Amino acid sequence: MEYIRIKELLDQPKTGETVTVKGWVKTRRGSKQVNFIALNDGSTIHNLQIVAETEKFGEEVIKKITTGACLSVTGEVVESKGSGQAIEILGEKIAVLGESDPEKFPLQPKKHSLEFLREKAHLRVRTTTFGAIYRIRHAMIFAVHKFFNDRGFFNVHTPILTSSDAEGAGEMFRVTTLDPKNPPLTEDGKVDWREDFFEKQANLTVSGQLEGELSALALGNIYTFGPTFRAENSNTTRHLAEFWMIEPEMAFHDLKDNAELAEDFLKYLVNYALENCEDDLNFLAKREEDENKNKPANERPALSLLERLKMVRDNDFAFCTYTEAIDILKNSKPNKKKKFNYPVDEWGVDMQSEHEKYLVEKHFKKPVIVTDYPKDIKAFYMRVNDDNKTVAAMDILFPGIGEIVGGSQREERMDVLTSRMKEFNIEEEHMQWYLDTRRFGSCVHSGFGLGFERMMLFVTGMTNIRDVIPFPRTPGNCEF
Ligand code: 4AD
Ligand code: MG
Repeated sequence: MEYIRIKELLDQPKTGETVTVKGWVKTRRGSKQVNFIALNDGSTIHNLQIVAETEKFGEEVIKKITTGACLSVTGEVVESKGSGQAIEILGEKIAVLGESDPEKFPLQPKKHSLEFLREKAHLRVRTTTFGAIYRIRHAMIFAVHKFFNDRGFFNVHTPILTSSDAEGAGEMFRVTTLDPKNPPLTEDGKVDWREDFFEKQANLTVSGQLEGELSALALGNIYTFGPTFRAENSNTTRHLAEFWMIEPEMAFHDLKDNAELAEDFLKYLVNYALENCEDDLNFLAKREEDENKNKPANERPALSLLERLKMVRDNDFAFCTYTEAIDILKNSKPNKKKKFNYPVDEWGVDMQSEHEKYLVEKHFKKPVIVTDYPKDIKAFYMRVNDDNKTVAAMDILFPGIGEIVGGSQREERMDVLTSRMKEFNIEEEHMQWYLDTRRFGSCVHSGFGLGFERMMLFVTGMTNIRDVIPFPRTPGNCEF
């Protein structure tokens, strides 16, 4: 290798040796005679200091060393005389690989707002904050696969193009090659989808669960980790139109086993970040602290980022049924004082994020697993409980996030499942492949879905989901 990455160099400083590093200039400061360049190559949050004498390289070259420029630097590794870094490089050779016009480069060495950086999402990865977020994102992806692989789960690729609606909620992006101005029509004047590419209506998947179930009833324990798409018009800090979801599915697991696995999994991810992303987390924790200094006390989180992560890792999650949750909410101060936008008055209503927040942040003060929701507000595939009113569902609620996981035991009884499908107006004809699992060798099975970006919000402490995915897709926004 003709160059060394900065992380490797900082981890094992080769003092006295001559090395080559390559990266992008964060800042250049200094005097007429000597320049101090902070170089970052993305391998770590830390910059490497390059000492460059103007005389050695000439003013023409030094002038080109501006924020954003790409350099190759060769020089001796020496102990740094300055504070703030252990080593630095005495520049002997500098090549400006790519210039960056300081008049035009949008990312100047100053603090930019997250809103501004969202508009520059193609460049924001060059900032310290987004470098940290994307490195943590990688660590979390890796940890997801490690967790399941270590437990003997098989990773399954479920289709992205599909003709089914896994959640039955009708929030799908249609995929078609028909001419929108002049589609083929049937005799009664409707669009004739038989003429379309797949000879039927197709859409982007909202969840890989149903196909995941097929694999679980053969391989035992499986998980998917793929992009999912929801055409819900929710312009919030928690919703994306394209997000990544991890969906494990396990044969012979009931709801309790499912909840145990989910709790272990979330703790594992948090612990993995604490153990492997220290520098990036410390930076984000400090950043959050600085941001919060100017906020009124009631808008600041009660715990710091690292305290929140340790709280999740080190405490058992709370459990309560939907019915218990509704009682808690009904009798809560904000409900009595009419502070909720959606007052909680009767059993059967769907919980809003303000309610979820109250339960987690004010009542239980730690993650809570809410189970056994009314069957009318949950998906058709969830197993109907003996009370015939509720289903064996679970949502996991996290502080600052609300719902982070949704899952259930699945309805394994053919007759109950088909009657549930009727209630939801789901045509059996299109779901025969799914029903075959119940027809042939059906069994108790369960699974859940973790929204990867919601987990990223929790781990990084960022507060807008648009800032934890490289290219966010939201209503009215599909740039890059
Ligand atoms: O609760 P959801 O809709 O459940 C399912 O899709 C099931 N098929 C999962 C399963 O049982 N295998 O979504 C699961 C999780 C949510 O808890 C949330 O974390 C995330 O996916 N999620 C979103 N994340 C970002 N943007 C959106 N629009 C999201 N919708 C759901
Ligand atoms: Mg849900």
